[in-house]
Amino acid sequence: MTGSILEIRDLRVAFTGAAKPVRAVDGVDLALVPGEVVALLGESGSGKSVTLRSILRLHPENKTRIEGSIVAAGIDVMALSGAALADFRGKTVSMIFQEPMLALDPVYTLGAQITEAIRKHESGVSADAARKRALGLFERVRIPSPERRLDSYPHELSGGMRQRAMIALALACNPKVLLADEPTTALDATVQVQILLLLRELQRELDLAMIFVTHDIGVGVEVADRIAVMYAGRIVEIGAVRDVIRAPRHPYTIGLLSTRAQGGRLSGKRLPTITGSPPDLASLPPGCAFAPRCSSATSACLEAAPAAVELGHGHAVRCIHTAAVA
Ligand SMILES: Nc1ncnc2c1ncn2[C@@H]1O[C@H](COP(=O)(O)OP(=O)(O)OP(=O)(O)O)[C@@H](O)[C@H]1O
Ligand SMILES: [Mg+2]
Repeated sequence: MTGSILEIRDLRVAFTGAAKPVRAVDGVDLALVPGEVVALLGESGSGKSVTLRSILRLHPENKTRIEGSIVAAGIDVMALSGAALADFRGKTVSMIFQEPMLALDPVYTLGAQITEAIRKHESGVSADAARKRALGLFERVRIPSPERRLDSYPHELSGGMRQRAMIALALACNPKVLLADEPTTALDATVQVQILLLLRELQRELDLAMIFVTHDIGVGVEVADRIAVMYAGRIVEIGAVRDVIRAPRHPYTIGLLSTRAQGGRLSGKRLPTITGSPPDLASLPPGCAFAPRCSSATSACLEAAPAAVELGHGHAVRCIHTAAVA
């Protein structure tokens, strides 16, 4: 896509540590323009986190086979190594996690971690100037008593405040793309809403492109411009939020959204469980991976993995039956 700030093409990730490779991501294409938010939905194990981690090249190199291309802000991510990769992380693409302690170091104060991140990426910034920026970031993410909190250690903050501090750290070097992996799931409902509103506000203000992984369809609808639904390492449906919500076309998406048909509100709904179990990623069937659980499946579904069918306005579905009626 022209003008993309992030473009992932035919991403394939297999973990090779066990006897049979685990194909966690199996041909993902996804492009975002600046300022765009894509919500990534899909049941546990569908490859959402692996996709995000690939963008920052966080997988163990010796046990992972990764193919395809990822270009972020004009940078060929697959070609990065050493200092260039370290510089890319946080400066071009940043990530926030469900558990802030994954990103924060327990033995340093929050202020020290943020100033270090700034000075690592921008040579020539004095300690004082970096501290001023850290203070500005804490004010921006609305941490009360920001000056004092800069001198706190991560464990001294509540979960919600820690999440705010992690967002401040993620934004410290003005990234262009933010990856958010279930950033509110571990928080109380009211705190979740506050963090979500804050993220949305910052994303708009800073014109950040964002991929937002969530289990909560309502959250996806609230934050995103587009929804991408993953199943067994593939995006099986993608489109503008209103198109996917009003007219889901993949049987898996239809299943996920079935709570709506029962009159339930979308907000606060975790993904419903669909009958059957997810496939074994170490021995995926040759055809559509969803076929064994799909009530519309026919023998043709078992032959080859379905190609993406474009339905218009960027709404695309991987299902041969959708192709038949389109
Ligand atoms: N380092 C690894 N080595 C081997 N297998 C892995 C590794 N990381 C992830 N996997 C496997 O890849 C698959 C996809 O995992 P991933 O973490 O992306 O799922 P997810 O969609 O984020 O699920 P969840 O909603 O539970 O977070 C899973 O089967 C997982 O066990
Ligand atoms: Mg995950």
